[in-house]
Amino acid sequence: EEGLHPTHYPWVHQQWLKTFDHQALRRGFQVYREVCSSCHSLSRVPWRALVGVTHTVDEAKAMAEECEYDDEPNDVGEIVKRAGKLSDYIPDPYPNEQAARAANQGALPPDLSLIVKARHGGCDYIFSLLTGYPDEPPAGVNVQPGLNFNPYFPGTGIAMARVLYDGIVEYEDGTPATTSQMAKDVTEFLNWAAEPEMDDRKKMGMKVLVVTAVLVALSIWVKRYKWAPIK
Ligand code: HEM
Repeated sequence: EEGLHPTHYPWVHQQWLKTFDHQALRRGFQVYREVCSSCHSLSRVPWRALVGVTHTVDEAKAMAEECEYDDEPNDVGEIVKRAGKLSDYIPDPYPNEQAARAANQGALPPDLSLIVKARHGGCDYIFSLLTGYPDEPPAGVNVQPGLNFNPYFPGTGIAMARVLYDGIVEYEDGTPATTSQMAKDVTEFLNWAAEPEMDDRKKMGMKVLVVTAVLVALSIWVKRYKWAPIK
């Protein structure tokens, strides 16, 4: 069953001559970290990927160090814990799928690394889903216990409840943390997570166009020059 078709929003970072807004990515990561990361993993993103994108080296190191990772087994075969490093991946909230389902009434919160690419509608869908929980389901709609009504979710009954409410994070750059602002920022951040090379790709595409235009102009000039005496 299809969900309600999401509204098409004018995502600036998806325009041809635009890049990701790094302040927005930083805010979006904050939303992931403070809200989504209690249930959703982001397992393809290492701490080092944030360096120079959302955070400085020292900030990324400090966040990694706050997390514990399994170290190599020691001489007697025990797993010891160690502080995280830049090369570690952002840790999963649950040790395994069973634990994840047990904490979510049987549903599995999907990994968010590629979710923007994996879901039909991409950014429009994620934004619509996060902001699309009505206070009450429409009259006459029965929602199964443990599920929440969201018209954008295929089937309309989703195990994830509304998570974004005005002011649940406090942005350090002073941007008002409205529900829609947070949804927009975390969606843009998740788009970066899924396509970290997007800016480079656009810049390279631009160079290719410029170089091609110069070569075409040059070849036209050479052709005219060569054939000029024949006229
Ligand atoms: C599903 C995003 C926070 C639990 C999802 C989906 C997305 C998403 C995109 C996939 C929907 C689909 O399959 O099409 C987010 C974002 C969050 C967030 C961006 C933070 C802003 C949370 C939190 C929890 C949670 C805090 C747990 C308390 C779940 C569960 C599902 C889910 C259980 C599976 C739903 C189902 O299959 O019925 N989330 N989520 N999410 N999320 Fe979240």
